[in-house]
Amino acid sequence: MPTPSTVILGTGSFAPSRIMTNDDLSRIVDTSDEWIRTRTGIRERRIAGPSEKASDLGVEAARRALTDAGLTPADIDLLVVATFTPDQPLPSCASLLQKKLGIPTRSACFDVNAACTGFLYALDVASAMIASGRYRRALVVGTEKLSEVVDWEDRTTCVLFGDGAGAAVIGASEEPDRGLLGCLLGCDGSSADLLCIPGGPRDPASPPGARSDRLQMKGREIFKLAVRCMDESARDILEQQHVRADQISLVIPHQANQRIIDAIAEYLELPADRFFVNVDRFGNTSAASIPIALDEARRAGRIKRGDLVLLVAFGAGLTYGSALLRW
Ligand code: COA
Repeated sequence: MPTPSTVILGTGSFAPSRIMTNDDLSRIVDTSDEWIRTRTGIRERRIAGPSEKASDLGVEAARRALTDAGLTPADIDLLVVATFTPDQPLPSCASLLQKKLGIPTRSACFDVNAACTGFLYALDVASAMIASGRYRRALVVGTEKLSEVVDWEDRTTCVLFGDGAGAAVIGASEEPDRGLLGCLLGCDGSSADLLCIPGGPRDPASPPGARSDRLQMKGREIFKLAVRCMDESARDILEQQHVRADQISLVIPHQANQRIIDAIAEYLELPADRFFVNVDRFGNTSAASIPIALDEARRAGRIKRGDLVLLVAFGAGLTYGSALLRW
């Protein structure tokens, strides 16, 4: 195993207070709690208020991560925000978050859009920039207001998603045995049309309510590719790092569907209790999914010092990736 160059110093997460249950959804579209639970494992999701934007969710998660790390916004010189639902097309969500948090102006701030794999992309980019020696402390945030881009008349998609944010503070690893051991990222643009917003969230050419400005998905194809890509990415990083699956203490998968997580557990031949799952309470929060789960897992005492933790994700693009950490 190589010496890690970066380490996660603190984590935080935040979800809007409004809970939307499956029964609530069944009053909006032709669905049922039974259908949603058995096909996805989702029981409820959080929905942001009209004035609550992705940067507002991100600011709370970021503050909690900074507190957890024992740092202040003044200590940050790199802010990378993973999102595909920024407050507005321009400037970036990171610019807005920088201002709200009070991160110094002499810091690099930008967004990354890799959909549900966004947090892993942002983590890898931030880690590489810190490893270069040109940045000291990074704040990596995954934040999404998916309720703004789902089609609330489409029962095949609107039941799956929710709003939320998660964050992690990254710094140079001062201990040779702790930190990010490796990260593998991938993308298959040939399947881009399987999960997309064709017209863009705020395309002025599309009439209000038109489906081209809403999320569209071919669910069955996505399901199969999600299982295949996450399984392969997990295997690839384990092989690259010379780690056996049974040495992993906890897998934190992207929280899209309980059945996808179960299938990966089966392929990796790992027991279900080795996987952290909160999809039942949040649904799919895209780039926020892994950092929320990581924060919850830590706070629940599921990750101890020295544990090997595997993060693995999949999303529109089609993007996929995995990261291996020694905690
Ligand atoms: N409530 C009730 N019925 C629904 C429904 C809903 N919310 N959504 C779809 N259905 C119906 C379909 O219309 C279909 O009816 P039909 O057989 O009469 O045509 C039936 O349920 C089965 O639909 P199907 O798409 O085959 O279901 P599925 O078992 O594949 O489950 C998903 C659908 C979306 C849950 C599943 O394909 C999935 O999770 N895919 C991956 C999605 C994902 O994770 N995306 C994000 C990746 S980051």
